Amino acid sequence: MSIYGLRDFIGGVTDAVASKQSDMDRIRAIEPMLRWLLQNRSALEERFKEPLADSYAQYLVCKPEDDSFSIVSFVWLPGQSTPIHDHTVWGVIGIYEGEEEEERFKRLDDGSQPNYAELRSLGRHLARQGDTSYVCPPDKDIHQVRNVSSAPSVSIHIYGCDIGQRERHIFDVDRRMISPFRSGYTPLRI
Ligand SMILES: [Fe+2]
Repeated sequence: MSIYGLRDFIGGVTDAVASKQSDMDRIRAIEPMLRWLLQNRSALEERFKEPLADSYAQYLVCKPEDDSFSIVSFVWLPGQSTPIHDHTVWGVIGIYEGEEEEERFKRLDDGSQPNYAELRSLGRHLARQGDTSYVCPPDKDIHQVRNVSSAPSVSIHIYGCDIGQRERHIFDVDRRMISPFRSGYTPLRI
């Protein structure tokens, strides 16, 4: 039997996105496939694992023409961190190399006041190579990811849209502010 690779995974995600009727069904179908992919040490080309000195990197690995999903690799050097952000779409996340600390947040206000958001931390979790998790709005959608280890980390993310173009939000917990943002993608250098 051949090693489960990126092409197999893209085929599986394409089938799951098209055939499953709910976001949670898509997540449940994709999560075990992602665990298989995470065991393949040659699944990701080097260009998708290149860190940047001044910020974490997010490379577009694959996106079909209909934008029904996107596969993105994230690369963190030690100490690098995302802002607190949401996704507004389902996503499945797996740690390919290293460790990442994730802090989840719950939104406490009703969203009726412009630019205002009140968040409460739900705690931190250290994810290690091979671990998977997911995001799914509205209740499991806000988090922050950091590399608190002494080695670079790489994770593979699958979202139910072209996540780089999605209008999303970043949160300032202390000032209780919410701001729109689009992440885009990091240009490939290799
Ligand atoms: Fe995220």
